[in-house]
Amino acid sequence: MQAERNGQGRHAMLPQTTAEEFSRQEFVKSLKLHLATKVSPGNRDAYEARARPAYAKAQGRAPENHGEIRKAMAGEPYFTFWSAMLRNSQEMMWKAVQIPVERQLPALLAASAAADGPGSLRLDPALEIPRYHRSVDIHCMPGGYHSEFTADDVANGAVYDSGVYVYAMGRMGPWNADIGDTTIAWIKANNPGFAPRRILDMGCTVGHSTLPYCDAWPEAEVHAIDVGAPVLRYAHARARSLGKAVHFSQQNAEATDFPDGSFDLIVSHILVHETSNAAMRNIMRECNRLLAPGGIVVHAETPPYRDLPVYDAFMLDWDTRNNNEPYWSASHEIVAADIAAETGFDPASAFEAYQTSAFDVAEAQRLKVFQGGDFGGGGQWWLWGARK
Ligand SMILES: C[S@@+](CC[C@H](N)C(=O)[O-])C[C@H]1O[C@@H](n2cnc3c(N)ncnc32)[C@H](O)[C@@H]1O
Repeated sequence: MQAERNGQGRHAMLPQTTAEEFSRQEFVKSLKLHLATKVSPGNRDAYEARARPAYAKAQGRAPENHGEIRKAMAGEPYFTFWSAMLRNSQEMMWKAVQIPVERQLPALLAASAAADGPGSLRLDPALEIPRYHRSVDIHCMPGGYHSEFTADDVANGAVYDSGVYVYAMGRMGPWNADIGDTTIAWIKANNPGFAPRRILDMGCTVGHSTLPYCDAWPEAEVHAIDVGAPVLRYAHARARSLGKAVHFSQQNAEATDFPDGSFDLIVSHILVHETSNAAMRNIMRECNRLLAPGGIVVHAETPPYRDLPVYDAFMLDWDTRNNNEPYWSASHEIVAADIAAETGFDPASAFEAYQTSAFDVAEAQRLKVFQGGDFGGGGQWWLWGARK
């Protein structure tokens, strides 16, 4: 495998970095690592030494949930400082990956136009971008997944591909494919002999998690949808460059144009937390319509707060208020059986499970892919879904 200078797997669409651009990205990565490993632990010290006792004195009891810890920590200078640094590191990260994309945009547009190979791309310029994406720059990514700055734009696909690698510090593997690989490992382990003929990946972005399905079930027809045109153009050209056959289309997962019963397997990887409460239910209803009898839907996310110690839940919840992730909190309250029952599935078929990250790094290095910093030491993805 050819790799970029930072170890990311190389393909025709991946922006290259000059030495200066590489240094800038490495600086952001080091800053994030420093904040997660050296600065973030002080938040717990500040909580135990000052915020918790002060809350207990005022309320007659210690904080009992992540919301109460947030209130207790609201005026804590150490937390405010760390939080500001983390927000800044996030904005710096996008800037650091945008600079090479802007410099190379003509070449990236040309590579996208010239992409040849298997699979297909179907765009819908009339598709309405859901309000939950129009109203914020999600996780501070300028323009989100859908904004287009030039004709046939791919810029935000390129920004996302490079950005995720810096954000995850390479710990999602050279192809940023960890969530797909992990979900596949769980599906195979828990459904021996399952051989889906048609697979749909919802909210595929640039196809990081989609491509592993082509290798896991080589006989299957793989489809992938997203609302953002720039990420889909990039995904299509990237998949072609890597010789993978995926049929990408620009569609809202809440209401697609696929016929009833089209798929045996529907998956999503960190899609649900970026949709609204109503949308996540619409998506499950749509999954129910799209699945053939016996089909499975699996959504991969970070763990629900109820499964975490309350302090860890508080740290994981940082993104809700500080990283333009308005539905992060609500998505961490999902109860699979409840949503299954609301959306036409038999609640008895619903499941919630954990699967250890497929990307093989030492336990000590499995760190904190998400912002809170103290979460994720176990390197596990939370999977939930249902069977039709
Ligand atoms: C965090 S990214 C997903 C990353 C990707 N699945 C992966 O594993 O690399 C969330 C994606 O979901 C897409 N999305 C959000 N709401 C959607 C919807 N209602 N229908 C289809 N895609 C949606 C966004 O445009 C974005 O590309």
